[in-house]
Amino acid sequence: MEVIRNARVMQQTVKEYLQRGSSIGFVPTMGALHGGHMSLVQRCREENDVSVVSIFVNPIQFGPSEDFSSYPRNTEDDAAKLQEAGVDILFMPGVEDMYPEGFATFVEVERLSDRLCGRFRPGHFRGVATVVTKLLNIVRPSRAYFGQKDYQQALIIKQVVRDLNIETETVVCPTVREADGLAMSSRNLYLSPRERKAAAVIYRTLCRARDMVLGAECSLSDVKNLMEEALSAEPLVDEVEYASAFDPETLEDICSRDVTIYRKGRVLLAAAVRIGRARLIDNELVDMTAQEEAA
Ligand code: PAJ
Repeated sequence: MEVIRNARVMQQTVKEYLQRGSSIGFVPTMGALHGGHMSLVQRCREENDVSVVSIFVNPIQFGPSEDFSSYPRNTEDDAAKLQEAGVDILFMPGVEDMYPEGFATFVEVERLSDRLCGRFRPGHFRGVATVVTKLLNIVRPSRAYFGQKDYQQALIIKQVVRDLNIETETVVCPTVREADGLAMSSRNLYLSPRERKAAAVIYRTLCRARDMVLGAECSLSDVKNLMEEALSAEPLVDEVEYASAFDPETLEDICSRDVTIYRKGRVLLAAAVRIGRARLIDNELVDMTAQEEAA
């Protein structure tokens, strides 16, 4: 595995692969790699000639009171995992390389960035959209891989790719979970053993909400109430930032709408909670069209 620490060198290397006609697959990450990241890497390896993974803890997507400085950094272990998985290139640019003095251009996606996590993390998605645009311009992949765990992020990146004519296919891969259902996340490392156990409440709640949506008559506001109550009932949950049903394309909260409109559609159930030092998110996409067809 080749390790490249400089954007210009990365661009030169990519040019050589493209001239040879190789397809490039790309997995952008912030490191502290776990099974979720590695599932994207595996899919990337299967579908492309050359696999590139980036590790870059992107300062501009963290708010001033967020965990940029304490975000887990584990470069040696990460490099060993990627080498073992057969990755061709590990791209690890420095902050001064990505944001040299005088840097002044940002990518802002309207509407989608203000909803769900955007309401609690102002500027976060502007930071994500900007860094991903830069990375896609540097790596020029045929395909880039993202996890459904960060559903809003994946949707925003798809919008950027479409709006800015970037020639990359964005592939969204399923959420990888621990045995008790907790979505794998680098931030799970912040949890004490008791908090880690309690965090299973998030996916348990999403599953109950999904069953409710798929089951007998109920309103989406009942679903929202169930989610908020079930999450708040866990004593180690310090705050429920949001827990509701959303339109999976516009990310509008659809709880006040008539459930019958959604009987034929898709509903995104999503939640963000704080447990101790960790802010954890998860979601479940419920497809009622599949159920209609099966019925
Ligand atoms: P990071 O949190 O490191 O995640 C990198 C990729 O792994 C994202 O696409 C994320 O959705 C995916 N991922 C994380 N946990 C997952 C899980 N349990 N199952 C499946 N996929 C999972 O997301 C970022 O980094 C950054 O915002 C980034 C896109 C790299 C821009 O800085």
